[in-house]
Amino acid sequence: MEKVKIAILGFGNVGTGVWKILQENKKEIMKRSNYDIEVAKILVKDINRKRDITLPKEMLTDNIDDIINDESIKIVVELIGGPGVAKEYMIRAMRAKKHIVTANKLVIANWSKELFKIAKEENVLFYYEASVAGGIPIIREINESLTANKIQQITGIINGTTNYVLSKMTMDGISFNEALKEAQEKGYAEADPTSDIDGYDAVYKLAIMASLSFGTEVDHDCIYREGIRNISDIDIEYAKQFGYTIKLLAIAKQEDNKLELRVHPAFIPSSHPMANVNDAYNAILIKGNAVGELMLYGKGAGDLPTGSAVVSDIISILRNNVAPNDAKNEIDKADFKEVKKSCDNESEFYIRLDFKDKAGVLGDTAKIFGNNDVSIVSITQDVEHTTHATLAFITHKSSEKNIKKSLDKIIKLENVNKVESIIRIESFK
Ligand code: HSE
Repeated sequence: MEKVKIAILGFGNVGTGVWKILQENKKEIMKRSNYDIEVAKILVKDINRKRDITLPKEMLTDNIDDIINDESIKIVVELIGGPGVAKEYMIRAMRAKKHIVTANKLVIANWSKELFKIAKEENVLFYYEASVAGGIPIIREINESLTANKIQQITGIINGTTNYVLSKMTMDGISFNEALKEAQEKGYAEADPTSDIDGYDAVYKLAIMASLSFGTEVDHDCIYREGIRNISDIDIEYAKQFGYTIKLLAIAKQEDNKLELRVHPAFIPSSHPMANVNDAYNAILIKGNAVGELMLYGKGAGDLPTGSAVVSDIISILRNNVAPNDAKNEIDKADFKEVKKSCDNESEFYIRLDFKDKAGVLGDTAKIFGNNDVSIVSITQDVEHTTHATLAFITHKSSEKNIKKSLDKIIKLENVNKVESIIRIESFK
């Protein structure tokens, strides 16, 4: 069987997973790709570092030129991550006629247009299945299995860290800080968890999925973003009382040729399958005009799940069964779709107020909502103390503009202390 040489850039968690899969499933991979894959070089920062896996010394290099200049290497697998050298190395590798597999969502979300263009110029393949939702084959699903559809909506739980934190808060009744600490101890959250907790990671992934689904270039800066830092155990309890579960959702919808793009925590009905996606698991619900609703569920991170996506991209390149940069990646001006301003979006809302328990405050609050076209579904009032009581509202579908107008007035009421939380509700209707 013909040998093919590949190089791996970066040998962290995912790199190790890729290595393990290539060893463990060697026979199946040979059969399916028709090639004997040989890892010729691995780029690392420190050749002498002690690793769990013993690698032949001559396989390791700290010099990218050893890979770029080696004509026998046909595929470069970029697993360095981040915005730093990863993009430059991929461009250099493509210019040297090497195919690319990457897991780098940040680079794809920011520079896919430039990278796809270079791939086309050099006639090389550029695959990035592992950049969104780790082991879930969502890119291939959108690019191949669903091409008969107009995709109407994608709703995803696409960040494992935040899903772990919210699941722990929901199931164990612990605070955000306790749940985050536990996630860090278990390796589900970074020491600096900003990218996950504040929703940036999900925004990049949503930008990639939305670009492919709607055939347009989605700028991740246009995506409304709100993380889970302000979700309190009190909100989790109210959610339960009202029959909901809180999840960080990434939503992309197309309506009237306009896109609605948002990442934020949301109340979802506890009976919905998405509410039962727990721990660090991911799930993506796709609505197509032919297929209807389709849900994918699996591990969004980890060495083997993400390695699974990377290795299947390598096999796809070897089979070359997908056109290099098919039409969906060719964004032209005719495909431009306007992204709706978040104030024009409509949702049902959960709103929690801290107030002084004085006569008339509930009536005044309800009147302001009514005057601004915000209709109330339910109200719960809990009085802990006359100076600090809680009103929790669930609204009918309202525009964000009207919610904001109402709350700007409500906060000025003499007996309202604070608007504690505003959380959108996704009822999947
Ligand atoms: N931190 C990410 C997550 C890893 O939690 O989903 C995969 O991008």
